[in-house]
Amino acid sequence: MTNYKKILIKNGTVYNVPNKKTGVFDVLISNSKIERISKNIKDKEALVVDAKGKIVVPGLVDVHVHFRQPGQEHKEDLRSGSRAAAAGGFTTVIAEPNTNPPIDTPSRLVQLLKTAKKESIINYYSKSATTVGLNGNRLVDIGRLKTAGAKAISDDGHPVAGEKMMLNALKKSKECNILVTPHCEESPLYRKRQKRKRENLRNFPDSVTNKPYMAEADFIMRDIGLAEKTGARIHISHISLAKSVSEIAKAKKRGVKITAEAAPHHLLLNEDAVKNLGTNAKVNPPLRTKADVKAVQEGLADGTIDIIASDHAPHSAKDKKLPFNKAAFGLIGLETTLGLVLTHLVRPGILTLKQAIEQMTILPAKIFGLDKSGIGSLTPGTKANIVVIDLKKRWQVDVNKFFSKARNCPFDGWKLQGKAIMTIVGNRVIMKDGKIIENI
Ligand code: DOR
Ligand code: ZN
Repeated sequence: MTNYKKILIKNGTVYNVPNKKTGVFDVLISNSKIERISKNIKDKEALVVDAKGKIVVPGLVDVHVHFRQPGQEHKEDLRSGSRAAAAGGFTTVIAEPNTNPPIDTPSRLVQLLKTAKKESIINYYSKSATTVGLNGNRLVDIGRLKTAGAKAISDDGHPVAGEKMMLNALKKSKECNILVTPHCEESPLYRKRQKRKRENLRNFPDSVTNKPYMAEADFIMRDIGLAEKTGARIHISHISLAKSVSEIAKAKKRGVKITAEAAPHHLLLNEDAVKNLGTNAKVNPPLRTKADVKAVQEGLADGTIDIIASDHAPHSAKDKKLPFNKAAFGLIGLETTLGLVLTHLVRPGILTLKQAIEQMTILPAKIFGLDKSGIGSLTPGTKANIVVIDLKKRWQVDVNKFFSKARNCPFDGWKLQGKAIMTIVGNRVIMKDGKIIENI
């Protein structure tokens, strides 16, 4: 990485400065912190970056990524995942705990965060599992995991099927002031278990019958009820169904402490994509109908869904080159999310630029409590996390150029407009014009 004592970003249109309207300003970084944001800053010692005609925004925040470390580093690791993030304009990620072994004890989390300090070039945080081994039977030690640094609890890949278990998780997380991020999805394991215990289906009339992976809204309704009962805060991962959007809208109106995210693939692709893309369109929750896609877009536009998160889920070619029903679930997204959002949500007017920026910066930072350290905004006095974006830059997605180790991207070949051209963390320029800058 190239380290500088001072960096001066000149004449960009600057977003998300507390108490300042968006406008053309200079941003001075000194000793890793944002020192000043105003017009006509001059500094002879600083590295000067010309951002005329570009936008300067807080480093993007992705609260839902899989870096596969520990255990499946051949798919992704902290090095490759954090470089993919930097290339896509992200300076902060929160990783899911479904690694191998899963992050379900304080010592595993502490070890992971220690390794990340050395290997990740961006701010890396992790969630912890909700239940030991992600198997839904016993709660993790939520209090100690929070103390060890967990930013939320999540049984990624699995629903917490037992209602009592979820109730206890919510009670405990309220006590410990940690966010619960339910994955309202069916896992193959869950479906197998449900088939064995047919009587459980009474609670989930629509699910695990003939319809594939339709339980999302049922679980959301259940978890809304439990959040209401306990007063705990929940954040629903990757919304994919119209029914989920309407249930969340109703809950928000009643004052339930609920937020939600949507992923680019659920915002832009429908079930027909599977025909052409095969297993690169296999994801859980699955791609849905056109009507669902429209509802998820509308939910994001009207604030029912709060934020955008990629659910970057790297898999090896071996795990994807299998018959559809045997292939792994998941798609990568860190290097395409920004371009997709700008081209297919902002350009057509579904989201305003300001809204899209907030949904990828200050809002996720607030929901996950990262805003206090300045993440998600350009606040003088806090650590610099900045991305310079060229809204005019046209480019074509080419999976072979990704910094991610994985290639399971359904957007390969898409022509996009708008790209991160510089990513800064502290006093380091970590990405410039699509190149990761390693230590010199
Ligand atoms: O598509 C998915 N991929 N859904 C999940 O729930 C898990 C994830 C993964 O870890 O690959
Ligand atoms: Zn996930």
